[in-house]
Amino acid sequence: MKLTSFLIITSSASLVSALGELGFDLGVRITETQCKVPSDYHTDLDVISPYVSTIKVFSASDCQTLEILGPIAEEHRFTISMGLWPAPANKFNDEKAALQQFLPTIRKATIKSFLVGSEALYRGDVTPEQLAGLINEVRDFVKDIKDKEGATYDDIPVGTVDSWNSLTNVSTAAVVQNSDILFANAFSYWQGQNMQNASYSFFDDIMQALKVIETTKGTTDLEFWIGETGWPTGGSNYGESVPSVENARKFWKEGICAIRAWGINTYVFEAFDETWKPVVSGSDAERYWGAFDDGRNLKYDLSCDFSSSPTT
Ligand SMILES: *[C@@H]1O[C@H](CO)[C@@H](O)[C@H](O)[C@H]1NC(C)=O
Ligand SMILES: *[C@@H]1O[C@H](CO)[C@@H](O)[C@H](O)[C@H]1NC(C)=O
Repeated sequence: MKLTSFLIITSSASLVSALGELGFDLGVRITETQCKVPSDYHTDLDVISPYVSTIKVFSASDCQTLEILGPIAEEHRFTISMGLWPAPANKFNDEKAALQQFLPTIRKATIKSFLVGSEALYRGDVTPEQLAGLINEVRDFVKDIKDKEGATYDDIPVGTVDSWNSLTNVSTAAVVQNSDILFANAFSYWQGQNMQNASYSFFDDIMQALKVIETTKGTTDLEFWIGETGWPTGGSNYGESVPSVENARKFWKEGICAIRAWGINTYVFEAFDETWKPVVSGSDAERYWGAFDDGRNLKYDLSCDFSSSPTT
């Protein structure tokens, strides 16, 4: 993308807010077959609470996430961006059943958004038209569910998370049009970028997604987040991408801090390493995306210097 359009877009985005909010994607398992229990979540949230007060999860029903994590998050004054699997149909039904049963056990302020699908378009799990329909179905479904104080979930935004290059594809416009909130994922690591270009490439991806969303919606006044980004500290190289603590810290500073300085809200993938994850296509990098290792030790400095940022 050309630098000129980049500057135009970011200057309009910067009017929306001050610094972009920071959150973490949070895993819900301790092994492939074992779900986290309440004490795991209490410790997780204690450890990350100096840095963030919002988390994103992929599913309400997997590992009884809404049932167990919902009240714990509320107790720790965290909000949740609540993912829901849109497919297959029986899984989507499980998600709706979890919402029906457990949204009444918490306050609606604990739920920041409902996100139908995580890279479902990218994987081709659903068509854009199907996903748009399911987003509308969830909005309709939650509007009559009452929270524990009797308030309804009717004004919580409903949308989706997908890869930046699925959201820029004109074929997915129906999803953008039917979403109250949109999240774009962008991983320079999986694009094989070296560290010299990783942050530039990340900004370029996100700005392309934001531009298409703004154009499709016909407004710059919209709820937009980065749903997943980050850099692994261990595991295999990918193209010119090299995992290391030093590179993850550099991406944090030059990618994540910098895009938040432009006013863009960001969930970082992810809070904690998941070293139980299997090797996929010869790569074990999926295990080492945490800002903290799986003993919950911080791997690198998460501070940002916003003193010269355009929005403060
Ligand atoms: C957009 O999506 C369509 C349908 O999935 C696909 O055939 C096409 O290759 C995509 N275009 C780009 C530029 O990725
Ligand atoms: C840097 O990233 C941009 C955007 O993704 C890409 O077009 C360009 O080819 C990359 N440059 C190098 C040297 O890899």
